[in-house]
Parts: sequence; structure tokens; C-alpha cells
Amino acid sequence: MAILVTGGAGYIGSHTVKLLKEKNYDLIVFDNLVYGHQDIAEKLNAKLIVGDLGDRPLLDKLFQDHNIEAVIHFAAYAYVEESMQNPAKYYQNNVAFTLNLLEAMESAQVRKMVFSSTSATYGMPTTIPIPETHAQNPINTYGYTKLVIEQMLADFQRAYNWEYVAFRYFNAAGADPDGIIGEDHNPETHLIPLIIHTALGKRDSITIFGEDYDTPDGTCIRDYIHVTDLAQAHLLGLEYLLKGGKSEIFNLGNGCGFSVKEVIEATKKVTNIDFKVNKGDRRAGDPPMLVASSDKAHKILHWQPKYPEIETIIQHAWQWHQQRHGHR
Ligand code: UFG
Repeated sequence: MAILVTGGAGYIGSHTVKLLKEKNYDLIVFDNLVYGHQDIAEKLNAKLIVGDLGDRPLLDKLFQDHNIEAVIHFAAYAYVEESMQNPAKYYQNNVAFTLNLLEAMESAQVRKMVFSSTSATYGMPTTIPIPETHAQNPINTYGYTKLVIEQMLADFQRAYNWEYVAFRYFNAAGADPDGIIGEDHNPETHLIPLIIHTALGKRDSITIFGEDYDTPDGTCIRDYIHVTDLAQAHLLGLEYLLKGGKSEIFNLGNGCGFSVKEVIEATKKVTNIDFKVNKGDRRAGDPPMLVASSDKAHKILHWQPKYPEIETIIQHAWQWHQQRHGHR
């Protein structure tokens, strides 16, 4: 029996593939390599099928040729700003292509899925920390696409007896502690890698998007979670489903928030490099504070983050970027 991992050559997908391979799972990585990296799949020695989830004949053949037990579905576009400028691209790739995958799974009678959802489905939170029961009112198209997929899974569960685990990630960050793989987005928009690029001299400065938020230092607060801890949750979610667990939705975060200024200061400390920091305007659609309650994942999946410290998360990201781009 094999596990299909869509988007397994991407950032969170590849870290999960690494853990699953260490546990000797038989894996098939499916990735269109638009944002995923072939060299990462090769480094992990993973069986890679390059294709689009919109390609139904390819999916049908894949399910015919392999005895797939469950699917971990990472593949998606995830640029919030782009999703607002080009919603069609996001509904097509994230929603329509996921429906195509779900239909192919249903016709092959593969009815277990671990799905990558997001804290962006909550929109502007009214309580902190945010529990899974919090209202979902996304403020961007990306968040809506993930919410629609959550609903599709709930409907497939009800009508066709599927079981799924959906994870709502908070801010994924860091890199594999062994330094084999890491975060490599192109374009890069995330705070921690951008600060590290600045420390490495690849950028002149980092700009803080807004210092007038209603937070202690005026900058936005986020719940940064180590990518290997996210990967570990996927392993536990998969094992939970394979043992007959019922459908559940879990937040994945550390329950502890750091402001943009705090992340910048922590990076200066970890790297021992000073760099230029600019004041910028607010970025549209940024909630002031996103912090998760992950009690449910602790209780049901017995998930405990191994690398909760922000310094460790930054240290591992720093290690990976230094090795990739070289010292300045
Ligand atoms: N930020 C800056 N300067 C930068 C980049 C980011 O100040 O150059 C700030 C942002 O404004 C935000 C914080 O740093 O306040 C974190 O920004 P990221 O872009 O790293 O992450 P987001 O919180 O915007 O996004 C994350 C996920 C998305 C998800 C979103 C939910 O990466 O996939 O959370 O709100 F949709």
C-alpha cells in the first residue's frame, strides 16, 4: 500500500515526505513543479510523478497502477496577494483541480485524505488564541479556496463515507534540522526568509509592513510553527486515519505569538548580523494578530511541537539559507 503526496516537492510537502520516508512509508510524490523543486524530490529519493491535478486520465492511471491507501494533499497556490489579483487562477488550481483529485479518488475508492488548510480561513479573528470552532470568514481569495475545499471534504465524508484530517496551518517557518531541505519560494514573500536574505546581503533592507497596529509594539503578531513540527503532525494525522480515526480539523501552531519587530530582533541575535530595517505601510489584508489554540491536536493526535522556540526556527532557517546561498 502506498501514500500519494500531492505537492510533495514543495516546502511543507517535502519536509513531510522526509519524515514519512524515515518511517518507511511507500510514497508517490505528485507535483507539477511550478513551485515544487525536482532536486528536492531527488535529494529525498522520492518517486516523483510530474503532472497537474487537472489531468484526470493521469490521475486515473496513477490510482490504477498503484495501490494507494490515502492521499496527503499539499498541492496549491498560496500567494495571498496574487489570489486577490487573479482569483480565477486560484479557484481553478486550488478548488477545481482538488475536485478533480477527489473525484478520481472516489472512483478508485480511495477515501482517506490529509489536507492542508490554513489560518487564512478565519479572516479577522475575534478571539485569541483561535480555536477550531472560531467562525470562518476569509478576507482573501486564497483563504476562500481552502474553505471551499474543507466544505467539499465535509460533504464527501457525509455522502461517500470519506474520512479526512484537515490542518489549518499558522505561519510555517524554519527548515529541516538536518539541513537537507528548506524553504525556497520564488517569489519569496514570507517574513523570516526575507529577513534572512537581508542578513545574507541578498537584499538591502527589510521593510516592516505597518507599525500602527493595536499590538504592544505596533507590528503584526503571528504564530510561527517549525515546518518539521508541521510535518510530524501530518504523519500523526495519517496514522490516525489509517487506524480508523474519524474526520477532524486541527489548528497547527505554537500558541505563542511574535511581532514582526521581535522576529527581526531574534534574527539579528541568531545571525549576529545587523541590517537595515525600514518602516513601511500596512499590507492589505493583514490581520493584526493570529495565534492558534492547538489543544485539539495535542489531545487527539498527541502532537507536541519539538521546536517551539522562535530562535530555533530562525536558526534552522539560517543554517539552510547559508548553505544554499553561501556566507556573505
Ligand atoms: N511582513 C513584513 N515585511 C515583509 C514581509 C512580511 O512586515 O517583508 C509582515 C506581514 O505584514 C505579516 C508578517 O510579517 O504581518 C508575516 O507575514 P508573512 O507573509 O510571512 O505571513 P502571513 O502571516 O501573511 O501569511 C501566512 C501564510 C499564508 C496564510 C496567512 C494567513 O504564509 O499562507 O498566514 O493570514 F494565508
